[in-house]
Amino acid sequence: MERHEVVVVGAGLAGQRAALAAVQAGRDVALLSKLHPLRSHSGAAQGGINAAVGAEDSVETHIFDTVKGSDYLGDQDAIEFFCREAGPTVVEMEHFGTIFSRADDGSLARRPFGGAHFPRTIYAADRTGLALLQALWERLGSETLTLYEEWDVTRLIVRDGRVQGLVALDRASGEFHEVAARAVVLATGPAGRVYAKTTNAHSCTGDGIAVAYDAGALLKDMEFVQFHPTALLESSILITEGARGEGGLLKNASGERFMVRYAPHVQELASRDVVSRAIVTEVREGRGFQGPFGGYVHLELMHLGKERVESRLTEICDYARRFAGIDPVTEPIPVYPAQHYMMGGIGTDLHGATNVRGLFAAGEAACVSIHGANRLGGNSLLETLVFGKQAGVAAAAYAAGAPAPELHSTDLDEATAPLRAWSSRSEGEDPSTLRTEMQRTMEECVGIYRDEASLMEGIRRIRALRQRAERIRVVDRSGVYNLNLTDALETTHMLELAEVIVVGAYARTESRGAHARTDYPKRDDARWMRHTLARRTPEGPALDYAPVAFTRFEPTERVY
Ligand code: FUM
Repeated sequence: MERHEVVVVGAGLAGQRAALAAVQAGRDVALLSKLHPLRSHSGAAQGGINAAVGAEDSVETHIFDTVKGSDYLGDQDAIEFFCREAGPTVVEMEHFGTIFSRADDGSLARRPFGGAHFPRTIYAADRTGLALLQALWERLGSETLTLYEEWDVTRLIVRDGRVQGLVALDRASGEFHEVAARAVVLATGPAGRVYAKTTNAHSCTGDGIAVAYDAGALLKDMEFVQFHPTALLESSILITEGARGEGGLLKNASGERFMVRYAPHVQELASRDVVSRAIVTEVREGRGFQGPFGGYVHLELMHLGKERVESRLTEICDYARRFAGIDPVTEPIPVYPAQHYMMGGIGTDLHGATNVRGLFAAGEAACVSIHGANRLGGNSLLETLVFGKQAGVAAAAYAAGAPAPELHSTDLDEATAPLRAWSSRSEGEDPSTLRTEMQRTMEECVGIYRDEASLMEGIRRIRALRQRAERIRVVDRSGVYNLNLTDALETTHMLELAEVIVVGAYARTESRGAHARTDYPKRDDARWMRHTLARRTPEGPALDYAPVAFTRFEPTERVY
């Protein structure tokens, strides 16, 4: 059995930042990740990181934009803390060696992003997440900690109301391990792969969120799912909002800049929920393009010129050329919205603490909540670093005073029995079939637009899939890199979360931010200005609600 004071699960930006903070606080720390840290999904973040460092900008405006972007569901005390940390966080990352793009005068270059009053998004071309990840990984390399690489968390061990450790599968050997810990930080990223069309990496299967839910942690606001307006047609690879920030235009099949009708003041730079709905509406009402991969609109960059497009949007040029066979310098990019981010996650306070003692969470796996019903682009990278650090500091402080973890000799057997049963069946359900059916269901029933009928159908289908998942069969009996087993594990995790998303969306009879109900098209502050909390029960998620923190801005109609 392995034993550490603090175990951080997930080695993207939030996990690495948490680990760094916990090591600096003097704790014995392990970082456990199903991927090599530099392959974490943080590296896929393109457009940038927000901080109000420009002379015309202010922290106050960043706070207001984030509150408004959240459709007033974000907790304003948390948003204020978050925005105040932005400047120091970016400076720290620069000191760690991040090579940010520069303006002509040598200052940090900033580009406009949706829903922001001023250009506030600091970037490294269109590979900002990767630049940050590389710098942080190098910084972490000068500290002493243990790395469990290509290990999947399968269960948290909670006894006497507090975390005692976890069980994980070592992919390389196929062996299960118990890891005793005084504190666990979950920074495992999102669950975007519950959808068929997503900008998320294949690794984004919500493992940390699912094991936390299983262990009694409350999940918050899971019905709020962000769809990025501009994913490359067919592959759904992210085409950064930075492309519109640089001046890219969205056009329908008549060549019309349709965003003028939906967001007259800021057009393409409205918030993501607004732009995504506009694209879907254009296509549904027959004004989009149609092709073998469905409807789409055009994102035009040609007028920006070769030098600007290739230097500031290097990666997306490559993606468009390789995966769509078009050159953005001379041709429009075919785009359509795809799932991109989950505003919901494991409910935490400002310091990453959950309702389970000793369990902390940060990054996209967590919900503080700063994004409320809709996140602004550029606030996600910032979230990983600000709240990763908070969670690491808090977990280290907790671990310093917590009793030694108490693990029983039966823990490992109990935790792994259901998984071992998958491999002992002579017949049963194929996990990849269940996964594909779940993804199709979420796409069809819990997409950008939802209504009672689609959500009821979604609940019925996801619950049927969950029942079938009780009979999962893993046919590959090998130990080494058994992808059939990890597929089964991830699929069961995602099915749990899919149920929470659809049940929460069904219950919320209003439209707010990314949650657009065609049968309840208006925001309903009187009934629904509250967070959804989901607790796991054997019958499915039990929902409860919690107040939103208001400190300064009264809700008004959200217009861009
Ligand atoms: O469009 C983008 O570059 C994505 C940024 C984000 O999600 O924050």
